[in-house]
Amino acid sequence: MSALTDLYPQIQTCRRCEIGHSRTKAVPGEGAEHAEILFIGEAPGWHEDQQGRPFVGPAGQFLDQLIGSIGLKREQVYIANVIKCRPPNNREPLPTEIQNCKPWLDRQIELIQPKMIVTLGRYSMEKFFPGKSISKIHGTARREGNLIYFAMYHPAAALHQGSLRQAIEADMLKIPKVLAEATSIVQEPESPATQQQQLNLF
Ligand code: URA
Repeated sequence: MSALTDLYPQIQTCRRCEIGHSRTKAVPGEGAEHAEILFIGEAPGWHEDQQGRPFVGPAGQFLDQLIGSIGLKREQVYIANVIKCRPPNNREPLPTEIQNCKPWLDRQIELIQPKMIVTLGRYSMEKFFPGKSISKIHGTARREGNLIYFAMYHPAAALHQGSLRQAIEADMLKIPKVLAEATSIVQEPESPATQQQQLNLF
């Protein structure tokens, strides 16, 4: 057990929301405990609710392919959601559910200490890029301290829509470069000119 996995039984017994009673299994998240990249989706769907694991349905298979396209496996990253229980009939998460679930996600971020948070879809984007429009900011990054935020479309939205699919595939391929550049900036703080130049690349 670790501080991160210690959270799982707490999340699994959480009943702060109505959906804590209607769900089959809560879906805390899974992956490498100190992953460099943390992907954050929206909410568990039917498949995730059955298995208690994130992104295991069709959107998850597409996400696995996208992660594979940058030479990684899902075990090497961490995958979580804004809310941990499935809203009935796949309705959108309610503001109160997002608020009630916030401490779990915030604690996961604190424990994983990722270098990069990749938001998948609008709900996740809203947490880190409030007020922004996904069609405008997808594929762009923002750095705060040592942490990079990178916005992407949700794989479920992109799965069957040609133009979004191309966009999400292209955005995913930017991740290694953004991460490498950010890491090199963090390691060389004494060179402000280089810092500025490299930040402009995002
Ligand atoms: N969609 C999400 O946002 N999260 C999942 O875990 C599955 C589908």
